[in-house]
Amino acid sequence: MNQDTALEPERSRSSIGLKIEHLSKSYDSVTVLNDISLEVNPGEIFVIMGPSGSGKSVLLKQVAGLEVPTRGRILIDGKDIADPKTRPSVSMALVFQAGALFNSMSVFDNLALYPREHRLYNPKTIRDKVMRALQTLSLEDAAEKHPSQLSGGMRKRVAIARALVMEPELILYDEPTSELDPTMAATISEVIADLKEEFGVTSLVVSHDRDLALTISDRVAILMHGDLLQVATPENTRRSENPRVKDFLNPVIDIKNPRFKKKEYAS
Ligand SMILES: Nc1ncnc2c1ncn2[C@@H]1O[C@H](COP(=O)(O)OP(=O)(O)OP(=O)(O)O)[C@@H](O)[C@H]1O
Ligand SMILES: [Mg+2]
Repeated sequence: MNQDTALEPERSRSSIGLKIEHLSKSYDSVTVLNDISLEVNPGEIFVIMGPSGSGKSVLLKQVAGLEVPTRGRILIDGKDIADPKTRPSVSMALVFQAGALFNSMSVFDNLALYPREHRLYNPKTIRDKVMRALQTLSLEDAAEKHPSQLSGGMRKRVAIARALVMEPELILYDEPTSELDPTMAATISEVIADLKEEFGVTSLVVSHDRDLALTISDRVAILMHGDLLQVATPENTRRSENPRVKDFLNPVIDIKNPRFKKKEYAS
C-alpha cells in the first residue's frame, strides 16, 4: 500500500499493465465467465462492453481480488494477484457500480475513511490528499455534504475521487456513467480520459455506454454470455461485421418481431 513516500499526483507515475489468462468463473455449476484471456497495456483505457448479465461485474470482482476465479490467473504489473506477496504492492482502486458511499458520513470522511482506518498517513497528509482528489474532480464545495445531498453525477465523481485518494496506478470502473444524463456521462468520460493524460493511470472500464467506449477508449472488448467475442480499436468495433456485436451496438427496434419473444432471449 502507498505510504507517505508514495508518488505525489503532480509527478508522473509509472503505468502498470494487466494480464488475464484463461480466466473462468462458475457459481455452483453455472459458468459465468468462460476462458477469458486479455491484456491491458500500461496507461491504456480498455473498455469491456456487453449486455446486462454477460459477466462484466463478475470479471471486475476477480481482477479486484474480491473473489477467487475458478480457473486461470490474473497478473498485475507482471505479478500474480493470487500470490499473497503481490497484493500489498499493487496500487489499484475499484469504482463500484453503485458508488458504495456511506450516507452517514460527509464526502470528506468517505474519502478519508480507508487511509484513516489503515493508518496509511498522518492526519494532515490525509487531509491534503483528500482535498487534492476533490479538487481534481471539481468537488471542493461538496466536501462537507453527505452523499444523499448530491446528484447522481456528483456521487459518481465522489466515488472516483475516493479511488484517487489511494493514488492508484490502475483503476477499475464498473459502469461509471450509468444512470447519468448525456452531459454528465460525457463529463465522467472526460474525467477518465484526463486521469490517463495527467497521471498515466491504466483504466479498465466496464460499461454499456457506447459514447464512452467509442470515444475515450484505446481498445474495446465485447463480452457476451461469459465469452469474449472480440477485442478491437473503437474504429474497428464500430465497423464490426459480427451480427451479435452489430445488434448490441445498434439494436433495431422491431415491434413485429421483438427480441423478448425470441428463443435465445427466453429464460
Ligand atoms: N455471487 C454470485 N452467485 C451466483 N451468480 C452470480 C453471482 N454474481 C453474479 N452472478 C451471475 O453472474 C451473471 C453475470 O453477472 P454480472 O453482475 O457480472 O453481470 P453484468 O454484465 O455486470 O450485468 P449489468 O450490466 O446488469 O451490471 C449473472 O447471471 C449473475 O446472476
Ligand atoms: Mg454489472
